[in-house]
Amino acid sequence: MELYDKILEASEYLKNKLPSHATKAIILGTGLGSLADELTESTSIIYSDIPYFVKNTVDSHDGKLIFGKLNNCPVILLQGRFHYYEGYSMEEVTFPVRVLGQLGIKELIITNASGSLDPEIKTGDVVLVSDHISLFGINPLRGITDQRLGERFPDMTHTYDRTIIQELEKIGESSDINLRKGVYVYVEGPSLETPAEHKLLRLAGADVVGMSTVPEVIVARQCEIKVCVLSCVTNECLSDEGPKETSLEEVIAAANKAAPKLQQLISGLIGAS
Ligand code: HPA
Repeated sequence: MELYDKILEASEYLKNKLPSHATKAIILGTGLGSLADELTESTSIIYSDIPYFVKNTVDSHDGKLIFGKLNNCPVILLQGRFHYYEGYSMEEVTFPVRVLGQLGIKELIITNASGSLDPEIKTGDVVLVSDHISLFGINPLRGITDQRLGERFPDMTHTYDRTIIQELEKIGESSDINLRKGVYVYVEGPSLETPAEHKLLRLAGADVVGMSTVPEVIVARQCEIKVCVLSCVTNECLSDEGPKETSLEEVIAAANKAAPKLQQLISGLIGAS
């Protein structure tokens, strides 16, 4: 079956289940699932019930699509995401974004956890991603040309929506959140990077590093969805004291701690328009 037909089938299934239409969606990353508690009038659908969605394998992610209202605005939350390191294909990892596009989503807010490569960016900070680097993995648009999926060679110059970035910066200022801006570099994982790799990534111009998001962003651009990414810094990769070890438990604990800040930013953004 062609990818396009799978997208149609999944989106038709969801259209029949969801109470109304939304134009904004949010992907919640590791340790950041609690935003779902803020929604009113919510309806949840587990991923395994949605045609062609694959099953989550990471314990820290609950795999659910939740439709609800945030500040009275209808939104779709994807609680839990699929990572390439779990063994899925890029098509599987990014399938939910294509379905969102087919459902009429025009604006996508993506959250994730990342390690800091900038000594000025500390654990607990939220980074507003202004650009990305992804040169070492498989591009999610690789495959046969199908114009129904969108542009074959999407331009990536204005990938991170400047209007949304400005709005988030204003919200950050007015709520006293020290929002940083930075470049996110995508690594495949699941092993973390070596100290030499951290140095290389820093030299290449990256401020934070993580194992998700970029495939979703690329597909969202092909689907002509506006994108913004908020990254929650869970560990410092290049500290003055030399290389430091990190673990999934630490990453989840730090993301849980920073989640209220992220919630405030997202809630402000959804409330603003
Ligand atoms: N490296 C890659 N991915 C991550 C990290 C990291 O240090 N922290 C959270 N996600």
